[in-house]
Amino acid sequence: MQQADFLVIGSGIAGLTYALKVARYFPDKQVMIITKAAADETNTKYAQGGVAVVNDLEKDSFEKHIEDTLIAGDGLCNEKVVEIVVKEGPERVRELIALGARFDKEKDGDYKLGKEGGHSEFRIIHHKDITGWEMERALLEAVSQQTNIHIVKHCFVVDIITQHHLGYLVTKATPDIKCYGVYVLNRATNKIEKILAKTTLLATGGNGQVYRTTTNPSIATGDGVAMVYRAKGRIENMEFIQFHPTALYEPGLRGQAFLITEAVRGDGGILRNKDGEAFMERYDPRKDLAPRDIVARAIDSEMKRTGTEHVWLDCRHFGKEKFTEHFPNIYEKCLSVGIDITKNMIPVAPAAHYSCGGIKTDEWGKSSIKNLYACGECSSTGLHGANRLASNSLLEAMVFAHRCYIDSVEKVNTDAKTSLPANDLANVPDWNAQGTTEPKEMILITQSFKELQQVMSDYVGIVRNDIRLQRAMKRLDLLWEETEKLYENSSVSPQLLELRNMITVGYLIVKGASFRKESRGLHYNTDYPGKSELVQNIVL
Ligand code: FAD
Ligand code: SIN
Repeated sequence: MQQADFLVIGSGIAGLTYALKVARYFPDKQVMIITKAAADETNTKYAQGGVAVVNDLEKDSFEKHIEDTLIAGDGLCNEKVVEIVVKEGPERVRELIALGARFDKEKDGDYKLGKEGGHSEFRIIHHKDITGWEMERALLEAVSQQTNIHIVKHCFVVDIITQHHLGYLVTKATPDIKCYGVYVLNRATNKIEKILAKTTLLATGGNGQVYRTTTNPSIATGDGVAMVYRAKGRIENMEFIQFHPTALYEPGLRGQAFLITEAVRGDGGILRNKDGEAFMERYDPRKDLAPRDIVARAIDSEMKRTGTEHVWLDCRHFGKEKFTEHFPNIYEKCLSVGIDITKNMIPVAPAAHYSCGGIKTDEWGKSSIKNLYACGECSSTGLHGANRLASNSLLEAMVFAHRCYIDSVEKVNTDAKTSLPANDLANVPDWNAQGTTEPKEMILITQSFKELQQVMSDYVGIVRNDIRLQRAMKRLDLLWEETEKLYENSSVSPQLLELRNMITVGYLIVKGASFRKESRGLHYNTDYPGKSELVQNIVL
């Protein structure tokens, strides 16, 4: 059994930022970061476009960034949270720069600013087309210098520990569910161990892997959301899955697709259909730079109309020098698959990209479970509403990591009300693996994984309707039943745990989508094409 003062699950921008802040404030307290893969294998590392932030109050304004965020969010953003993130964002970015993160500059020393869909101004700071890689690098470097932070890699968090594990009945109606720490699968010993903590932060990222193609790496299986749901915590707005309009289309590809950043369209890239038509003009006056939900639906509609599996992104007019100055990584990736962007158009198709909903938090990142914060993509803070504005998520993660840190400091300094009774901690039982054996066939797990992705992509994608959602739910029920049997009888593996979590996340997406009898933001149901007068968040 291990114990930490601060337990952080996830080593992306949210987890690292929080860990660094609490570790610096409390040099004599121990901070443990647990991550199920290599430290840098995160959604953060793959972020391309950059961070949306108001840089220059003469050319841009907080009001405009707020308004762009609210328009994209289609009536469901929490306005107070939007204001917090937009106004606190610049300070958080300055802190990251002070840590050593580098963003591209003009010759005069000003930051180069990009533009993406839904933004009324150029305001996106970036590091070439590998912004996330640079931010992750700077944060990991700073973390490595902090002697009171311990990163445990390749260690899978299975469940959060609550009173349920002490033998109490815990339901959604239990008013004071508390988190005592987590059970983890130690991959070195293949045993499940408990780690206790007074403060736990979930920063487990997104869930793109629930779909057949996604811009997310394989770690993005919605584990944090599934854990909180199992622990009877509150989950919100899961139906709002953002599909990025332009992932590189590679025939037959399943899993992680390479992203072609929206910043390419910000710099003048044009979407064309099979016949070469710049079709976005027919869908929205903002054309290629309309918010993502509109562009993704337009592409989906063009693909269905023309019977193709992708559309084209035309950058031939850029010229090599201009393109490679901003997008050297995309240039190389395209060349590696035989596409010379100066001569050929890039085949692109939408792919699952971002989860706007997640673990419901208040404006300090507190979840509905005591001593448990949630931050970054796994959380639902109220910033994104029904559709996230491009490049607002790295910003949100930094602002909320800071807010979780502020609240944690206050909690520790004022403590009595939050400390966990020593008795409870001593009574947390070891994991019970009795009666389980090694699974005989991995194929049962891998096949169910594929089935889940197929069901979600076919029935719960960009365009939905009631029959498709009902079908999806039936298929998920069966997968759930089969997987639970496997879980009860088999010793656990990361693959089985991820499958179980993804089925839960799929269920939450379908459930949210079925409750929402309207089309709003990223949720488009052809049976209810208009917006309901009842503007509501769906909390499960
Ligand atoms: P992540 O960075 O995904 O980190 C999650 C961590 O949790 C990982 O360390 C993982 O191993 C760990 N973890 C998960 N489950 C477990 C478990 N069970 N046990 C232990 N550890 C676990 N946003 C922008 O604002 N601007 C952009 O330009 C941008 N571009 C993007 C491009 C791509 C290709 C992608 C995929 C996303 C992009 N986004 C962008 C979104 C943004 O990158 C993510 O929302 C953000 O990085 C999420 O950070 P995070 O810290 O919440 O999670
Ligand atoms: C992109 O670079 O297009 C992705 C930006 C984002 O998801 O915010």
